[in-house]
Amino acid sequence: MSDPAEFKRAAAAAALDFIHPGMRLGLGTGSTAEAFLELLGARVARGLEVVGAATSERTADKARALGIRVADLDDLAPLDVTIDGADEADDALNLVKGGGGALLREKIVAASSRRMVVIADQSKLVKRLGAFALPVEVVAFGARSTLDRLERALAIAGYKNVAVTPRNGAEGLFRTDGGNLIFDCALKVIHDAPALASVLSQVPGVVDHGLFIGLASHLIVAGPDGTRILERKAS
Ligand code: A5P
Repeated sequence: MSDPAEFKRAAAAAALDFIHPGMRLGLGTGSTAEAFLELLGARVARGLEVVGAATSERTADKARALGIRVADLDDLAPLDVTIDGADEADDALNLVKGGGGALLREKIVAASSRRMVVIADQSKLVKRLGAFALPVEVVAFGARSTLDRLERALAIAGYKNVAVTPRNGAEGLFRTDGGNLIFDCALKVIHDAPALASVLSQVPGVVDHGLFIGLASHLIVAGPDGTRILERKAS
């Protein structure tokens, strides 16, 4: 096995061990989360009863198409477990997410869950976060001035000359399910993820950012040597 898609599927398969009948689930977004949905859908077809809150419209559509019951988060919370992918994870289980543009709903759903199990191929596990450009969700109103404030806040925090790029979609600027924009910040290396998360949260116009700190309880990584599960240490 050498294909990242195979590793994603292996990590997704291992996450099924966290699922039990009657559970209320958070359903993640992205290709790895979709691999999990397909496996979950097969279990549902064989009689497993679960219900899920989706982290994106795309996931909600996919889950329904697979026969998985979907309901509003507010009718289900607190959730038992959320299964979601990541763009990067470090060994403290801090994450970068939002490559698929769903970071805000992903964070709300993860924060509404007793556990968050992250599934990933081995390439996502990194020593230092930051090689993947950090997605930051901003409101469209005054986006240009928010971009300037964001660059200034990053410079003051020690991240100088960072390219902050509004994300494009199929037709012009990419819009999230909530109608917001995404700015991708090419930080290269994040030195202190909790400190940066706090800086970003204070920029007016920023709705949320793709740093997930203290949310993941488990990380399942799959690679050529097999699948392993990392558990977040109590802080
Ligand atoms: C979606 O917004 C993201 O947070 C995804 O979970 C992340 O981009 C991982 O995606 P893949 O599983 O497709 O790599």
